Amino acid sequence: MTQYEALHVMAEAELLIDETSVVASIERLSREITVQLKDANPVVITVMNGGLIFGGQLLTKLNFPLETDYVHATRYGDSVKGSGLNWIVKPSNDLRGRTVLLLDDILDEGVTLAAIADYCHQQGASEILMAVLVEKLHLRKVTPGMRADFTGIEIGDRFVFGYGLDYKGYWRNAPGIYAVKGK
Ligand code: IMP
Ligand code: MG
Repeated sequence: MTQYEALHVMAEAELLIDETSVVASIERLSREITVQLKDANPVVITVMNGGLIFGGQLLTKLNFPLETDYVHATRYGDSVKGSGLNWIVKPSNDLRGRTVLLLDDILDEGVTLAAIADYCHQQGASEILMAVLVEKLHLRKVTPGMRADFTGIEIGDRFVFGYGLDYKGYWRNAPGIYAVKGK
C-alpha cells in the first residue's frame, strides 16, 4: 500500500472509539491489573508490533514491581487474511515460576495469544494472564468462549486500525480505533 492509499483509507474510515475513550479504558485496565498483580512480581510481555502503544501507555500506570519483556510474533503479516504464527523474537526473561502478563492490541480469533501463552507455559511460567486493548466479538475464537483476563474495549466484527493496530502496515499511529470502510 502507498502513502496515498493510506490517506484514502483514513479519509473513508469510521472512528469507532475516540482517543479519550481509549485512554479511559487503559486507565480502567491499569486499576484492574494493579488489584490482581501488585504482589505477583510479574513479567509483563508486550506483543510487538501491535501491543506497542497499549503497552507503552499501560506500563507507566502499573505502579508496582514488575519486569518488562517483549515478543515479536505476527499472524497476518501484511494481509488481512489469517495464516500461521510467525515468531520473530521470543521472550528473553527466564519465565520459570513467574507470573506472566501478555499485552496485545487485539483478541481476534486468539491464535496469536494462545500460541504465545503455550510457549510461556513451556518455558515454565507458573501463571499466564492476558490483557488486550480490543476484543472482537464473534464466534470464531480458537477455543470457544476464549476471553482475555483483562479487556479494554469490545467491538463488532470489523477490520480496525489505530492505537497499535495496522491496516496493511499503516496507521498504527492513528489516535483512536477506526474501522476500514466496508470491512
Ligand atoms: P488472532 O490470532 O486471530 O487473535 O489475531 C490477532 C492478531 O491479528 C493481532 O495481534 C493483530 O495483529 C491482527 N489483527 C486481528 N484483527 C485485526 C484488525 O481488525 N486490525 C488489525 N490487526 C488485526
Ligand atoms: Mg498484533
